[in-house]
Amino acid sequence: MAPQEFKVPIQTTSMVQQTLTDIFGSYSTNVKGVFRNKDVLSHTYIPDMTLHREQQIKTLASILAPAVRGSNISNCFLYGKTGTGKTMVATHVTHEIQKASDRVRVFYVNCKMRGVSDTEYRLLAELSRMLGRQVPITGLPTDEVYNIFYSALNGLNKNVILVMDEIDALVSKIGDGILYNITREKIEGTKLSIVGISNSVSFLETIDPRVKSSLSEEELIFAPYNSRQLADILNYRAGQAFEDGVLQGGVVEKCSALAAQEHGDARKALDLLRIAGELAEREKSTKVEVRHVDMAEDKLDSDRVIEVLINQPKQSMAVLSAIIKLVDSKAKDIQTGDIFSVYESMCPELGLKCLTQRRVSDLIAELDMLGIINTKVISKGRYGRTREIRIQINNATQAKIRRILKDNYML
Ligand SMILES: Nc1ncnc2c1ncn2[C@@H]1O[C@H](COP(=O)(O)OP(=O)(O)O)[C@@H](O)[C@H]1O
Ligand SMILES: [Mg+2]
Repeated sequence: MAPQEFKVPIQTTSMVQQTLTDIFGSYSTNVKGVFRNKDVLSHTYIPDMTLHREQQIKTLASILAPAVRGSNISNCFLYGKTGTGKTMVATHVTHEIQKASDRVRVFYVNCKMRGVSDTEYRLLAELSRMLGRQVPITGLPTDEVYNIFYSALNGLNKNVILVMDEIDALVSKIGDGILYNITREKIEGTKLSIVGISNSVSFLETIDPRVKSSLSEEELIFAPYNSRQLADILNYRAGQAFEDGVLQGGVVEKCSALAAQEHGDARKALDLLRIAGELAEREKSTKVEVRHVDMAEDKLDSDRVIEVLINQPKQSMAVLSAIIKLVDSKAKDIQTGDIFSVYESMCPELGLKCLTQRRVSDLIAELDMLGIINTKVISKGRYGRTREIRIQINNATQAKIRRILKDNYML
């Protein structure tokens, strides 16, 4: 049968039509929004000016500099919390050295990216591909892929600097064997050195001491930014990102203060500023106000909770659904046993294997730890103790979570 034609034109009420016209109209180019260039605030934007990282930039540059005249250089290891400028400094310095000398080739991998370092094979294939050699997606013995990689390096006859960002993700996925191998192999003609980057300060303690000592021949620490430094970074970016005069006094300061409380995270500061601007624009406000920053903070919190939640196993989601159902039915004094009964009744329909009450109790504790629910143990004297369970997250986030659970047939 021929596919049915869609004959009925879509009808919208005039009210809906007006809303759509307003929404799209407010983004049209003749209406001035608050942004001049929003990309400047995105994660991938490489700033043309770096502030408060002179020392790290100089140190890294001097470690890598001998490569310009073809000499050996040390491996080095950059660490500090997220948003402290590690990727930015490594990118900036390695771009510059690449420009300064054609004896140097720089390659960058982000080990956290899906598909890049899921297996030793994949990573070697990816690196070989960067060096211009194709490796089939699967099928070769690992030794052979190593050989392809080494011979590709050999053929270059240069100083190769391999930046391995989020290197801790690599080790937690496939172990440190590959690092052991590539830091030990002597490759004729080409000198390979590694710039490893990690958000986890304790990462080096988790790897083979021999890998540790070769990776961290030189170490660079990235301390958290304080709120004044964050304000400098934001002010510079804000000047390019926003139209003149749209930022109300106190906006940059608030973003910086909030991000400094977190752990001096420049990415969070930039996110807050960008989202505050987006929220202002959505309200058709011509100014970004401090209250927009508060709203942005709520939104970021909510996004984070949801991100955490959707990465939980289905069993945890089912347990959370059971709790929500009980709360919705206005149950008082919710106990683990009550949650378990509701959960147990949901399992067959969801095709879940029913866990023991003890495991469910562990999952409840995990949801508590993630800040999604709050459980409080109340002593009832000689009647023993009970757990009082409440949902911890704000209403807007709850609404989004309910949606997700509904979409998964759990509510
Ligand atoms: N000193 C700085 N000057 C300007 N922008 C910075 C500075 N430090 C960080 N940023 C910006 O903050 C964001 C996070 O920095 P990034 O280098 O990705 O952090 P990390 O790799 O340590 O997690 C990026 O958008 C980066 O451009
Ligand atoms: Mg980074």
